[in-house]
Amino acid sequence: MSSLQEFIKAMPKVELHLHIEGSLEPQMMFDLAQRNGVELSYGSVEEIEAAFRRGARFENLQDFLDLYYAGMSVLKTEADFHDLTLAYLERAAEQNVAHAEIFFDPQAHTDRDVPFETVIKGITRAMDAAEERWGITSQLIMCFLRHLDEEAAFATLRESLPYKDRILGIGLDSGEQGNPPSKFQRVFAEARKQGFRVAVAHAGEEGPPEYVREALDLLQVDRLDHGNRALEDDALVERLAASGMALTVCPLSNYKLCVVDDLRQHPLKIMLDQGLKATMNSDDPSYFDGYVSENYLAVSEALDLGREDILTLARNGIEASFVSPERKKSLQRQLEDYAAAAVA
Ligand code: HPA
Ligand code: ZN
Repeated sequence: MSSLQEFIKAMPKVELHLHIEGSLEPQMMFDLAQRNGVELSYGSVEEIEAAFRRGARFENLQDFLDLYYAGMSVLKTEADFHDLTLAYLERAAEQNVAHAEIFFDPQAHTDRDVPFETVIKGITRAMDAAEERWGITSQLIMCFLRHLDEEAAFATLRESLPYKDRILGIGLDSGEQGNPPSKFQRVFAEARKQGFRVAVAHAGEEGPPEYVREALDLLQVDRLDHGNRALEDDALVERLAASGMALTVCPLSNYKLCVVDDLRQHPLKIMLDQGLKATMNSDDPSYFDGYVSENYLAVSEALDLGREDILTLARNGIEASFVSPERKKSLQRQLEDYAAAAVA
């Protein structure tokens, strides 16, 4: 392991943009298909890996989403959601992720007749077990699928209310083009009224800067997921920088989905230089060839980032997390102790 690799791996960090269904590894997909008697169109783990295009890229977001939704058809029981979540959290804890804020897509399961309760019970049981075993804390953010209509999102919001105490906030994901944040303005307002404390939204991954403005003005997000295309609009960049709005950046995802042509052209360094609060995340680690440490390493090598830039990204992540003030202080102390020892 290179010294940069060791520095990144041992660094205490948080992850703020992670779709739990995107952490489904080919081996687990294969095993769950067998356990549940689900017919997959792949005969082996190697065939699933080939479908994930290990080392190669998807054509765009939709090309990936087609596989992502097909892949999760193996998730059926509470045990499946538990095993999926525990595997992610174990892997994250191994990489010294101290806290994770996890997205889940309930509509992708309830539309297959998997009850909301099955999904949330499996996921939260694993979150509790992981905290007990490895000390990793986590919270859940429920995403609405933006390619579906407003009424479907309202129905999901109603279904989620009995589990509100286990869901920190709401998000918006899936195919962005043609599905602007404005489509969900009323759903987000109602969720806030129902007591969901925070809101985030994918914006500016493929969609235009206008979608980023809508996420800010109409959904009143507390954090922006991706946000890359905000860079096309100088006034918007200034606004994001001045307000300290955090961006959950996902470099390997951006590469695999052709949001950037080459990691060496990734705008992460430009974001930092322009005063944007960029954070480092993996998005769908199983599909995009890397968990959070691999993201730090790949982009650090591509952009020639040093330890100070890496620490800035980790500090931004803690700052942008939705933890309590006490937990935030504790995470900051861990990171600053690490930083001091690393340069000593
Ligand atoms: N973008 C939008 N929706 C998603 C993604 C993504 O990268 N991953 C899973 N759902
Ligand atoms: Zn995402």
